[in-house]
Amino acid sequence: MESARRSEQFFAEEGVAGFTHRAMAKSTGLDDESIRRPLIGICNTFSDLNNCHSNFRTLCDAVKQGVWQAGGTPVEFPTISLGETFLAPTSMLHRNLAAMDTEEMLRAQPLDAAVLLVGCDKTTPAALMGAISADLPVIALSGGPQLNGHFRGQTLGACTDCRRLTAEHRAGEIDDDTYRALEDGIVRGPGHCMVMGTASTMNSLTEALGLALPGNASIPAVDARRLQHAQAAGRRATALAEEDLRPSKILSRASFENALTLLAALGGSTNAVVHLPAIAGRAGVELPLELFDEISRRTPVLADLKPTGRYQMQELHNAGGVPALLGRLLPLLHGGAPTVTGGSLADSVARARVEDAEVIRPLEDPVRTEGGIAVLRGNLAPEGAVIKHGAADPALLRHRGRAVVFSDVDDLKARIDDPELDVDASSALVLRNAGPVGGPGMPEVGNLPIPRRLLREGVRDMLRISDGRMSGTAFGTVVLHAAPESAVGGPLALVHDGDMIELDIDTRTLTLDVGEDELRRRRAAWQPPPAHYSRGYGRIFVDNVGQAPQGCDFGVLRGSDPVQEYRQPK
Ligand code: FES
Ligand code: MG
Repeated sequence: MESARRSEQFFAEEGVAGFTHRAMAKSTGLDDESIRRPLIGICNTFSDLNNCHSNFRTLCDAVKQGVWQAGGTPVEFPTISLGETFLAPTSMLHRNLAAMDTEEMLRAQPLDAAVLLVGCDKTTPAALMGAISADLPVIALSGGPQLNGHFRGQTLGACTDCRRLTAEHRAGEIDDDTYRALEDGIVRGPGHCMVMGTASTMNSLTEALGLALPGNASIPAVDARRLQHAQAAGRRATALAEEDLRPSKILSRASFENALTLLAALGGSTNAVVHLPAIAGRAGVELPLELFDEISRRTPVLADLKPTGRYQMQELHNAGGVPALLGRLLPLLHGGAPTVTGGSLADSVARARVEDAEVIRPLEDPVRTEGGIAVLRGNLAPEGAVIKHGAADPALLRHRGRAVVFSDVDDLKARIDDPELDVDASSALVLRNAGPVGGPGMPEVGNLPIPRRLLREGVRDMLRISDGRMSGTAFGTVVLHAAPESAVGGPLALVHDGDMIELDIDTRTLTLDVGEDELRRRRAAWQPPPAHYSRGYGRIFVDNVGQAPQGCDFGVLRGSDPVQEYRQPK
């Protein structure tokens, strides 16, 4: 039995166990031939409450075809689906829950390999985290990005333009009827947000990690090539079962460095700075924040994509997709890193061609000479903070401003548009209690809205600082992920209205200009905010969640515990 596949062990068990395993499987229509083949799981995160995955029934059918073609038996099962816009208080609260679901179902069921259907923001990191910990052979398959949005002759991006147009509406530049009409044209069907937001970022990085087939990130959700790609994933997963090619044989420090290089070249989402350390932590690889900064500084931005650039995923795909971009970056990558294809990353991109040099620029003529994400340190963020300076107003990248402090999101909502609020364009808006414990779940509230009065005066960007996250589709001079967070006593908790705060991107510093003695007095008087949860998953979350630089994973979930033979008690 040592070398038998897990499904063989399951169906060949002696006595009543094997009998019932075969009988129950046969009740679903499988026959002896089907249960002799490798059993390939398809983790289907379909949900009516996840619009980004609304094509997953057909996508799953295509994977099944591929598995049958290759001589496997496909078995579809559900795992939690995290629809970014449908979850309260924030989908990030549930990422670790989804990772646990994926890990435990891969471990508990008699599977030989699996295809992970992913797409929307949290689904990709959650599935990878779980699968890496289970260490079963897997391929990640994205549902693909949405088509470009359209309205009155303009190309629109979800949800970069949702935010831009909402700011214009708040400023009185767009009337109510137009604002409502825009809703009908911006998201035109299935797929995840089609700008280089968190979903596009994480699916692109999955290609760089070697855990998806080339092309996975960018083929539009409704394109027939998405179904062909799904079949290929099913075929390849079946072969992986025989080869026993597990994530632990693919992932290394080199593959994570490749992902960081791609993140920089894409001008990708700040959320990757939370998800990648969490994914790496499952694989036993440490990714300190400084590595993000170091790689970002030496990597040019080559992809001209919203929210910082001009184009979207459809154009990226037509330009050759992530493989073409990786091809351009090859001198900066570890090309020998292995992938789920069975070959190296360099093999995966060998035949890729850049078809449009405006969308994927050459190394010698980049969009920007360095990546868009910087890591800041200072007495406001001793364990680090993150800024997407590529998406900021250059005039604010060296800035000193007077703090206007909001104690939490409710306080922010109540006062931000108050005409009496003592704020001007040079102020630094500070939001507390938006971190992993304080949010709870580190919600995407870091791009605080510009006060309406200032919007009407033409202000479109201000320095904003918090321990929260920001949507990958957002933009502005927004300092995020300040660690440690205010709810556990981080220095953000000690800022008072009127304190001076200084940001300096050149020196990568974020400084609260208040003396040590005064800070010590404030710290002694500090009281933690009341706990959000007394029981249930929320309580498990706040009791176990790590800070942003460690990826907000639960300490007990880090590392892996590879599945071995399939065993049940007799
Ligand atoms: Fe799913 Fe934007 S809502 S990716
Ligand atoms: Mg998002």
